[in-house]
This record gives sequence, structure tokens and C-alpha cells, in this order.
Amino acid sequence: MKIGLMGYGTVGSAFYTLAQEHADTQIAALLDLKTHPEVACRQTSDYRSIIEDQSIDTVVELIGGLHPAYEFVTAALKAGKHVVTANKQLVCACYDELIALAEENGVSLRCTAAAGGGIPWLHSLARLSRCDRITAVSGIMNGTTNYILSAMTEQETEYADNLREAQRLGYAEADPTADVEGYDACRKLVLSANIAFGVSIREAEVPCFGISGITAQDVAAFKRLGLVCKLIAHASLREGRVSACVEPMLFPVSGQMAHISGPDNLISLKAERVGAQSFAGAGAGGFATASNVLADCMEIARGCETFYTSLRTPAAVDNAALEQRYYIRTEAGAQSMRLTVNAAHAMAAEYKNKQQPFFMAAVAEE
Ligand SMILES: NC(=O)c1ccc[n+]([C@@H]2O[C@H](COP(=O)([O-])OP(=O)(O)OC[C@H]3O[C@@H](n4cnc5c(N)ncnc54)[C@H](OP(=O)(O)O)[C@@H]3O)[C@@H](O)[C@H]2O)c1
Repeated sequence: MKIGLMGYGTVGSAFYTLAQEHADTQIAALLDLKTHPEVACRQTSDYRSIIEDQSIDTVVELIGGLHPAYEFVTAALKAGKHVVTANKQLVCACYDELIALAEENGVSLRCTAAAGGGIPWLHSLARLSRCDRITAVSGIMNGTTNYILSAMTEQETEYADNLREAQRLGYAEADPTADVEGYDACRKLVLSANIAFGVSIREAEVPCFGISGITAQDVAAFKRLGLVCKLIAHASLREGRVSACVEPMLFPVSGQMAHISGPDNLISLKAERVGAQSFAGAGAGGFATASNVLADCMEIARGCETFYTSLRTPAAVDNAALEQRYYIRTEAGAQSMRLTVNAAHAMAAEYKNKQQPFFMAAVAEE
């Protein structure tokens, strides 16, 4: 396999190192904004020199973001090159279009590292969905928020202090919005639900409430009740209807969820025949993520199919039947009430519009 690597940041540089260790994954050219003296292959800052290089059969996109990654990936697919990417934002936003382009051009599109970092989660969903009916996917899909929530619980410190520490340690970006507001977890949930259920749901339809409003007092209140807070993405398929949501959730301190600390992920599925399965591990990090990118390349080299699934039944997100107990805290104090997901998220949106203090967390029901 001859690879055109796009991006030489945290994951791109780790992928370059890993690919060197395997004779069948040869990096023919690197596209990056800077030149890197340690890189032995041809280097360029013009993506067309990779697209037009007939010897390159696979493009590995590790730039991130929507643009120019979209232009680079679509050009590669149209040029008949396989694409491997870790870019959840791109694949989630352009899910149907990118898969259709891969199919039309008879090439593969893989994005296993886009959800779960180093965990082969999307690959496992695809594999299981061929022989069983997956009915739910859920879990801690974002390491940054799990680090912040774990530190707040363990050290009884404020949200802002732990966000700063997460940024210092490289767990959170300078602009942490996508992580702390739940958008990153939402994109991973959309990819997971689409592949697991054979549907095509849209990110914009998934209610999403993050952790930026949590206080040390909230965490202390949860502790007194024997509960810990985690940011959870969950989706299920019931009677042909897909429900999906990202929100903080409270779990018993003695349970499995409570023990996932730091930037780790714990992602689970439920299927009719195999029952429940969980995957835990590094949801981010250069080498962990790059190892999933490399595994995707190797699968393509072995002649793997176009995408994880050819099923893309358009589905509207329908949370109408989903009702849970919520911890709701406003300026007036904290209370517990049973609400539909739609009602709870509408309340959150109302307080956000009014710019008034608000935090909510669903109480997990086993
Ligand atoms: N980091 C993780 O742990 C992790 C985990 C799972 C998935 N991912 C995904 O993996 C992808 C890469 O993430 P990352 O953390 O490696 O990002 P990163 O460290 O910011 O690296 C991005 C690289 O792309 C380069 N770049 C930016 N714009 C470019 C352009 N127009 N043309 C060519 N190169 C360009 C950057 O160059 P400069 O440095 O010069 O700007 C940098 O080398 C993202 O989609 C991310 O969501 C990352």
C-alpha cells in the first residue's frame, strides 16, 4: 500500500512512526503546512500533488476539521484512492455524501479512530451488526470531559481549575467548546448509531448538553448521594425509532462507570443475541489513535469492503418516549424531577438563552 499522509500533528506523526514499522504500509508523500526534517518521504504543501500521484493508492487524512479536509478527502475519493481518516467532524457532517462517493469510485472509506481513539469500537459495531441486531450504544465517548469530571470528584475542585489543568496536560484544546459542550461526543454517537443500526441520523437533531455549567457544589451534592457524574452519549433503536442524546448522567459510586477515571473511555453496546458488551481504554492520544488508523489501512490492503455498512436508512431522532429522573439545579436551588429528554433539554435551552445558571444530569437507571 502506498500512502499519501495528510497532517503531521499528534496523530499524523505517530502514524508516520507506526507505518515505518510495517513493510506493507509505505508512506510515499506527506502533506503538511510545515516541513519536517525527520521525515524521509516526499513532502508537499499542495494537496493536488498527492491526489495526482498515480502511485498513491490510499490517502490518510489526519488534519481534522471540516475545511480543507472535506476538499482533500472528496478529491482523493474521486481520484479513486482509498481514504482512512480519524476526522469525526468531517465524516459525521458529510456521512451520506462521503460513503456514496467511496461506493461510486469503488474505494474504501474507513474511520475507526474517529470514535474511541484507540478502541476498535466502530469496527466491532460493524462486525456484530452483520450477525446480530444492535439495539443500543452508549458510554463515555469523550476523554477531556471524563478527565475534568473525575478530577472534580476526586479533588473537590472547581470546573475552571480542572479545565485549565486538562489544557496544560494536552487533554483539552485551547478552545475546549467541542469537548465540554458535548459536540465531540455527539459526533462519535452519530457515527456509532449509524453504523450499529444501519441508519443515517443527523448531528443537529441530537440533543446535546455538556458539562461547562457544573460546579463543585453539584459534585459535592452527588457525592452525598453516593453518585458520580459522567458525560454520556446514548442512542437506542426501538421499534424502528432511533433515540439519541448527549447529557451528564449520575451513576452509583460503586458501579463500573464510576471507576473510569482520567481521559479514558468506556463504550458499550447491547445486542439481541450477544447481550451487553463494553470496551474500555484510551479514547485519544497519538499512538493509540494512530494504531487504529494503521489497522484500517491494513484492512483495506486485505481487500476489506467499501464502508462498514451499506445501510443508510434516513432516520429522524425521536426521543419522545424517553423519560428519566433528572437532577436540576437553578439559581433557586437543586431538585430532582422526572422529565422526558425533550422537556429536560428544552429547559436547558431556555436557561441558556436567558443566560441564567443551570445544570442538569440524568439519573442512570439500570
Ligand atoms: N489527538 C487525538 O488524540 C485524536 C483522537 C481521535 C481522533 N483524532 C482526530 O485526528 C485528527 C488529527 O488530530 P490531531 O490531534 O493529530 O491534530 P493536530 O495535532 O492539530 O494535527 C493536525 C495537523 O494538520 C496540519 N494541517 C492543518 N491544516 C492543514 C492544511 N491546510 N494542509 C496541510 N496540513 C494541515 C497541522 O499543521 P500545523 O501544526 O502546522 O498547523 C498539523 O500538522 C482530527 O480529525 C482529530 O479529531 C485525534
